Amino acid sequence: MSRVSLRPYLPSDAARCATIFRASIEELASEDYSADQCAAWAASADDEIAFAKRLSGALTLVALFEGDVAGFASLKAANAIDMLYVDPACARRGVATSLLDALVKLATARGAKDVTSDVSDTARPLFERLGFRADRRNLVELGHEWLANTTMTKRLAAPSNPSAH
Ligand SMILES: CC(C)(COP(=O)(O)OP(=O)(O)OC[C@H]1O[C@@H](n2cnc3c(N)ncnc32)[C@H](O)[C@@H]1OP(=O)(O)O)[C@@H](O)C(=O)NCCC(=O)NCCS
Repeated sequence: MSRVSLRPYLPSDAARCATIFRASIEELASEDYSADQCAAWAASADDEIAFAKRLSGALTLVALFEGDVAGFASLKAANAIDMLYVDPACARRGVATSLLDALVKLATARGAKDVTSDVSDTARPLFERLGFRADRRNLVELGHEWLANTTMTKRLAAPSNPSAH
């Protein structure tokens, strides 16, 4: 049985999510981005009120690994994955896969025809493995740094309708 479980985000999760956000960028994304780029990216959590608003303003799930919050991910509008971050201490144990699978199912249930995300170079192999395809490369300005990411999209099957027989 998977040791990962999911639940909806609560406002009391904000500080833990900000810690995971910074640590995952500094320790995991640093394989693909420079120290200055990671610092500019991690600084997006410095305004704690705005960070918490971004999480509570979307459909955000947190993942528990062996009972502790180990990651989080959010779905904006019907079909855009906004955030996906995993505690480096719990990396490569399927935490992001569980979060992403759940958000794809929720987007399907919301009637979305596809689900899309601007994906970091670190997360790209994960998204490819889950059936997302690259649409275009982007350069995003954060602070004084430019960071590359890739818009990726997965086409969704129509949700099954149990009453349609
Ligand atoms: C990208 C990230 C969310 C992945 O989280 P994770 O819980 O470790 O991912 P999973 O364990 O579900 O990985 C599943 C598969 O995806 C691929 N994958 C995940 N992380 C990878 C990495 N850093 N490099 C290469 N492949 C990776 C692998 O195929 C992996 O399977 P394996 O471990 O059996 O080889 C995490 O590394 C992270 O938080 N990175 C920093 C922030 C970031 O880039 N967020 C994404 C914003 S779009």
